[in-house]
Amino acid sequence: MDIQSIKQRFGIIGNSPLLNRAIDIAAQVANTDLSVLVLGESGSGKEFFPKIIHELSARKHNSYVAINCGAIPEGTIDSELFGHEKGSFTDAREARKGYFEEANGGTIFLDEVAELPLSTQVRLLRVLETGEFLKVGSSKAQKTNVRVVAATNVNVPEQIQLGRFREDLYYRLNAITIQVPSLRQRPEDIELLFRKFSTDTSEKYHIPPLTLSEEARQLLISYPWPGNVRQLKNVSEQITIIEKDRTLSAEALKRSLPDMNVSRLPVLLGKNGNASGMNEREILYSVLFDMQKDIHQLQEAVAQLSDGHIPASRTAEGISPGIDNHPAPTFSSGRNTYTLIPAEAGHDNFPKRSEEHGAFVIPQAQAEVITEPTRTVEDEDLSLEKREKILIEKALVKYHGNRRKAAAELGISERTIYRKIKEYGIAMEE
Ligand SMILES: Nc1ncnc2c1ncn2[C@@H]1O[C@H](COP(=O)(O)OP(=O)(O)O)[C@@H](O)[C@H]1O
Ligand SMILES: [Mg+2]
Repeated sequence: MDIQSIKQRFGIIGNSPLLNRAIDIAAQVANTDLSVLVLGESGSGKEFFPKIIHELSARKHNSYVAINCGAIPEGTIDSELFGHEKGSFTDAREARKGYFEEANGGTIFLDEVAELPLSTQVRLLRVLETGEFLKVGSSKAQKTNVRVVAATNVNVPEQIQLGRFREDLYYRLNAITIQVPSLRQRPEDIELLFRKFSTDTSEKYHIPPLTLSEEARQLLISYPWPGNVRQLKNVSEQITIIEKDRTLSAEALKRSLPDMNVSRLPVLLGKNGNASGMNEREILYSVLFDMQKDIHQLQEAVAQLSDGHIPASRTAEGISPGIDNHPAPTFSSGRNTYTLIPAEAGHDNFPKRSEEHGAFVIPQAQAEVITEPTRTVEDEDLSLEKREKILIEKALVKYHGNRRKAAAELGISERTIYRKIKEYGIAMEE
């Protein structure tokens, strides 16, 4: 099947060479049993690929099972994937088949695969290597013939370094890699996608179609779309419904692009504006959540910055100066060093792509959550944990308690949001 027919069949919009290449690889490998790892930022369209692979393979008449590894609680994930024997744990009143048994002869899609606990990674590696698995509470190996396609938006080599992902499993999963381009990497597709989503919405609700003014078109294309196609789709649908003027102005569009005017979330950027395939918000959260031990350093650095004094150990030579020409405060985690760099005057509120040596840049306009330079540091509660709790609560309110949607907006997994809700004792209406 050629690429255009595949796009038509799966409803994939876009014509950029990077997207076409990703589809082409999926079509090429479909009829093998090789494991495939689909990489790409959140919202970029990764979920099409396991479906293409399954539908174009000889397995298409058998089951296709999609599992979001981040959404299953750690305590039950082994039993969901591999099944359990009766009586293997307190609630196991009946034996249960797992997904690997159900999908025999078919394809399993493991979404957010980097969220798998290490113990489950061991079981998964065994199936991939031997075609055999053990039900929880059983010592009898069972055979299954399953093709595995996995996806993730995190930097797996980094997770391996941190001891959170098994290197041997990574090489097993990664026989073939499909890199799904972010929307920033294929700006030529943005207008096409907008038109498609907008037209679908106006047809669905019987409202006149929306057209783009030239300025709105320019803005649409230059916007960084941290949430990729998912965000573009939401914005297009929303605007098509709410805007009275059927020729969209740049101002009206601006109102629907949250990160440009409303959001005060800090935005972290990698050297190329795309640190290892993660979007800015994901980088932010992985940094925030993983650097508990660095919080004190950061607080100290900010406090000292307001005193006009930076300890020598925290300065980074050759990095642009901070406030009052003092070197910018830095904090480090693992092998990375992060630098707080105030924005220049007249900064346009867009995250700046920095050419600094690997440093992530937090433009001041977006770093207010951390620095809020107009207020004194003493007045403020700088606890990132409290801010995190507030952000989670806000997201839950916004989505009326829907944890999946709140987690998606925060760029964290469902399992993480469940854990945080419990940890912070956030009250939930059931
Ligand atoms: N090229 C595309 N054409 C049409 N819709 C797309 C495209 N890419 C993504 N989408 C839509 O964007 C949303 C997010 O895609 P999804 O595959 O769930 O992203 P990911 O799994 O990478 O986070 C879905 O509604 C999907 O249908
Ligand atoms: Mg997804």
